[in-house]
Amino acid sequence: MSTGATRRGETALTEAEGQLDSLKIGIVGGGLMGHGIAYLLAAAGHQVGVFEPSAELRASLPSRVKSISDLLNDDPTALERIAVHDQLAPAVKDAAFVFEAGPEKLPLKQKIFGELESLTARNTILASNSSAIPTTEIGRNLKHRDRVVGTHFWNPPHLVPLVEIIQNEKTSEAVVARTIELLREAGKTPVHVRRDIPGFVGNRLQHALKREAIALVAAGVCDAETLDTVVKQGFGARMAVLGPLEQSDLVGLDLTLDISEVLVADLDRSAGPHPVLREKVAAGKLGMKTGEGFRKWTPEQADAVRERLRRFLAEQARRRKKT
Ligand SMILES: NC(=O)c1ccc[n+]([C@@H]2O[C@H](COP(=O)([O-])OP(=O)(O)OC[C@H]3O[C@@H](n4cnc5c(N)ncnc54)[C@H](O)[C@@H]3O)[C@@H](O)[C@H]2O)c1
Repeated sequence: MSTGATRRGETALTEAEGQLDSLKIGIVGGGLMGHGIAYLLAAAGHQVGVFEPSAELRASLPSRVKSISDLLNDDPTALERIAVHDQLAPAVKDAAFVFEAGPEKLPLKQKIFGELESLTARNTILASNSSAIPTTEIGRNLKHRDRVVGTHFWNPPHLVPLVEIIQNEKTSEAVVARTIELLREAGKTPVHVRRDIPGFVGNRLQHALKREAIALVAAGVCDAETLDTVVKQGFGARMAVLGPLEQSDLVGLDLTLDISEVLVADLDRSAGPHPVLREKVAAGKLGMKTGEGFRKWTPEQADAVRERLRRFLAEQARRRKKT
């Protein structure tokens, strides 16, 4: 257990805060994201305390984390390092880091961070896994805002390598560096996002693609299934090894410019969500969970998609561990 990161007092964080080999880590919220984050940090050798207010979710947490361990063929002793609590204080006691993965509601996250400020040491790093709410707002009322940072994991957090580490205007460089170090040592691929902007980097890119995808289908250029095939069997097939800017450098920026001259002005530029998306939501066509979204889904088809994704990501995660 780290000593440097668990002292109480007013010492500001420095990069020489001690080793990251076995720390106490607090997780707030043991839901979809929280249980995966808890698992990956326990698997990295840390002692993890999870605060989960729902009795039902507390009861199911051991079996949920065990299924991750089974999926990855991991050493099951990692599970012994996870403790579940019905109160916040014991979960975050002596924590070097706290990862908040509670509901996506600003007032609730602000309340949680207020409590964390009084329950943790001055040098405990307080990270939020919010998908969209800036940590600038979440940490606005804290006395020491240099220790608040965004850590945007992707679902499922134990299988998708990327974590965006979002630095807001108050976050110290040392906090960013230490958070990156912790997550890199836990086997993730942390990246430094230097401004606390909506959607950070990943979701901006993902939603820029979705905007065009919805517009193409709405305009009758192709159907939803064809659109997905174009992505999965086309440029998506190489994206895990070739990012869009690498690809531009590969084909040449002269060609990229020529294509941009013809294409960019023709792309969808709607200022808000597409009307077709609004209409579908208003009609209750929410996707797999209601049986219809852009396409129709039977429960069996929806399960097959989930299983295909889970197997694909798990296989990649197992392969990464071997290399
Ligand atoms: N689901 C995703 O794909 C995804 C991806 C990236 C980030 N996120 C973000 O992660 C966070 C958690 O999302 P999730 O999908 O795990 O949601 P979730 O609903 O599965 O989990 C939230 C958990 O917080 C618990 N909770 C409720 N009130 C609480 C309180 N006062 N204090 C502590 N915990 C409380 C709930 O019981 C629940 O277990 C959100 O901020 C979300 O935006 C989600």
